Amino acid sequence: MPLMTIDHIRHLAAHDMAQVDTVIQTKLASDVALINQLSQYIIHAGGKRFRPMVLVLAARAIGLPSPWAAQMAAVVELIHTATLLHDDVVDESTLRRGRDTANALFGNAASVLTGDFLYSRAFEMMVEVEEPRVMAILAAATNRIAEGEVLQLMNMGDPDVDEARYLDVIVRKTATLFEAATQLAAVLAKQPPAIEQALAAYGLHLGTAFQLIDDVLDYTGDEAHTGKHVGDDLSEGKPTLPLIIAMQRGDAATRELIRRAITEQDASQMAAIVVAINHTGALAHTTAQAQKQAELAQAALAALPESPYKTALMALANAAVQRNH
Ligand code: IPE
Ligand code: IPE
Ligand code: MG
Ligand code: MG
Repeated sequence: MPLMTIDHIRHLAAHDMAQVDTVIQTKLASDVALINQLSQYIIHAGGKRFRPMVLVLAARAIGLPSPWAAQMAAVVELIHTATLLHDDVVDESTLRRGRDTANALFGNAASVLTGDFLYSRAFEMMVEVEEPRVMAILAAATNRIAEGEVLQLMNMGDPDVDEARYLDVIVRKTATLFEAATQLAAVLAKQPPAIEQALAAYGLHLGTAFQLIDDVLDYTGDEAHTGKHVGDDLSEGKPTLPLIIAMQRGDAATRELIRRAITEQDASQMAAIVVAINHTGALAHTTAQAQKQAELAQAALAALPESPYKTALMALANAAVQRNH
């Protein structure tokens, strides 16, 4: 029995998420037509809105949310969307949220610049809160995300990247924003340090689990569910955990097969590599690592009082591992 179904979780968050949507729509407007066109395009493509949902549920789990909670949830989603615009340019991806990527449709330059617009609009919105700690947390988080993306760029095509270097990248590029989101919920509600740290730890582990599964889905996912092309990571020569473990556990031929695909950024051997990462247990290992992170996230919630919102956060940790999109 799941702790709580996704439908139930979404229902619990629905009222707050409607507000988040309104904030996003209101704040997205620009008098520059191309910015509106491109930002509406990516925002209306949907997306799971996982990060803002975690923020509003965390805010509810510790009491009556601050009036700024919806705005901060919108800020987090805009920062996430900006990173996706940039990420798809860097990764040369052509499918996102079941549609052509913005870079495929509008070009790299327009995507990068609209990403900058979303980032800076998010910063305008966080300044309105007039809380220095909010700005400090988000400034540090966005800086760390950028470091993660650059570290990842440096790792591309390098088959000698080990588990520690891989983890460093995913924590920075993905877990950091989840951590900031949940920490902000505590900061807005002026919670004591213990609660703030607990929620930050929850976000950090949840985000790590989330990216580990994203990296599994890049090999095993169904495009109809993920809305992204399977195999993008291999084409980019990204040394993600499934490949790292398969190289450690595989025989010499397997190791060579994967090393070459990474070095040459060549996805032509995708089918053989999927067999190898299955056969060596590399996919199961990566999923098990995600499960461990989800359990660490759940353990961090021990400091919170019992409530349906806490149960929803517990269930979301499982959902991050079991998801197919
Ligand atoms: C994609 O994030 C990028 C990662 C950090 C894995 P999501 O899977 O949350 O993307 P959307 O917002 O639902 O499209
Ligand atoms: C996550 O990495 C990107 C960011 C945190 C910006 P990926 O490159 O794996 O994300 P997808 O798979 O393109 O969504
Ligand atoms: Mg990408
Ligand atoms: Mg991915």
